[in-house]
Amino acid sequence: MSGPSGPTGAVPIISNPTSSAATLNVPNVGPYLVQLHVDDGISSDAVLQTVTVSEPQINANFNPATGSVTVTSPSAGRGNIALTSTSSYQNVAGTPVSCRWQVLSGPAGALLDGSTLLDVTKPCGTGAVLNVPTASAGGQYNVQLTASAIGSNVIAHLLTVSNSAPTANLNNTSAAQTVTYSATGPTINVTTNTAIDGSGTSGNFAFASAAANVSLDGSASTTPTGTLTYSWCVLAAQQPDATNFPASIPICPTKTAPSASATTTMTVGATGSYGVQLTVDNGFTSATASRTVSVSPGGGVTFPTIVNVLNSAPCSGCHQYGSVVNGVLQGVFNPASQIGTQPSWTNASTQEGDTLYMRVRQRVILGSSNSLLLRCPHLGCGGMGGNQAGFVNTTDTNYTNFLTWISNGAPPGN
Ligand code: HEC
Repeated sequence: MSGPSGPTGAVPIISNPTSSAATLNVPNVGPYLVQLHVDDGISSDAVLQTVTVSEPQINANFNPATGSVTVTSPSAGRGNIALTSTSSYQNVAGTPVSCRWQVLSGPAGALLDGSTLLDVTKPCGTGAVLNVPTASAGGQYNVQLTASAIGSNVIAHLLTVSNSAPTANLNNTSAAQTVTYSATGPTINVTTNTAIDGSGTSGNFAFASAAANVSLDGSASTTPTGTLTYSWCVLAAQQPDATNFPASIPICPTKTAPSASATTTMTVGATGSYGVQLTVDNGFTSATASRTVSVSPGGGVTFPTIVNVLNSAPCSGCHQYGSVVNGVLQGVFNPASQIGTQPSWTNASTQEGDTLYMRVRQRVILGSSNSLLLRCPHLGCGGMGGNQAGFVNTTDTNYTNFLTWISNGAPPGN
């Protein structure tokens, strides 16, 4: 037997040379001259025959096909594109042995099977992994496969990395929320004086500020790949009183730590509008959505309703005094309750920094019609007569509005 050896020097072998049916194992294509020699112990004969070996045509091919590709397993701003050979022989079962994968061109930063070499040869039964950075989104990689046994065949696919960005969506967060305030917020200290000019002994009134829970829901967000994490923030200045009563979630661009939960609770200390922003991240890239959430107290009476009454007749006639410079009442200090001097209802801070809200809240017992804020204009107290307009009957508008606000946690805000 004679014939061509293989590309690496392998020689042809007849595996069972004494049998009547033998197998010729060939390392290459081409003509093999085979001789059969038969012998019965007395006489013998031999015959020669040329067996021409050819390899079937290789059809090189792989997935994904040319076109748009969504990355898988996104993580830390990178994602995978799995390359799988589907190469075959024309009209014959079996697959080519060796697959050489090459990235001929494409956006910077790609890794092929973890290497920057972008050229790897391995058994066709095992796929290769093209790992690409976020910055490649929208770019094209020209990936070439050379499938070979003895012969070989080449194919290239132009793979466009889809942007694979998630979509942030706050449609499941209701834009108008009525919440229940309770005195569970941080303690607030109000400075009080025994004399209106601040010359008397100063004291302190402390109360727990109002707090309520607002539900935020980003579950309508979607991603074409990976799993989402959710982070929240309040848009700069888009909350009723960031200075005195900031929401529990940070002001953008600072965000809450990424969470796997699509929902969260924002604790608020004031009523009014909160510009909430959600950031979703799928590991490859991120997206944001924002929504204005209008927060109202139970009963619907907000602090500005109280301020409006206090700043108009008849209250304003006795309770507004002192000039305001840069938001501070000149020469006016906050009196302690029931010392015979009326507090200023002017919407500014006193000399010691007590805001109108603090001075009003000093005269409120949560949930109680016995609050001085209600009792004084209704029944009178000390030097002030009762039956003030709007407070004569317990069904009068001002009376019911004040009681509603007091009964619903007396929250600040707008
Ligand atoms: C005629 C003047 C006058 C008018 C009008 C008036 N007040 Fe007064 N108010 C006073 C005086 C004086 C005091 C101090 C009473 C005391 O401590 O003896 C006072 C005290 C109060 C207090 C208690 C403060 C404290 O802690 O001691 C409240 C609350 C109050 N007024 C609310 C109102 C409201 C609300 C209105 C409008 C509906 C109003 N007042 C109208 C004169 C007036």
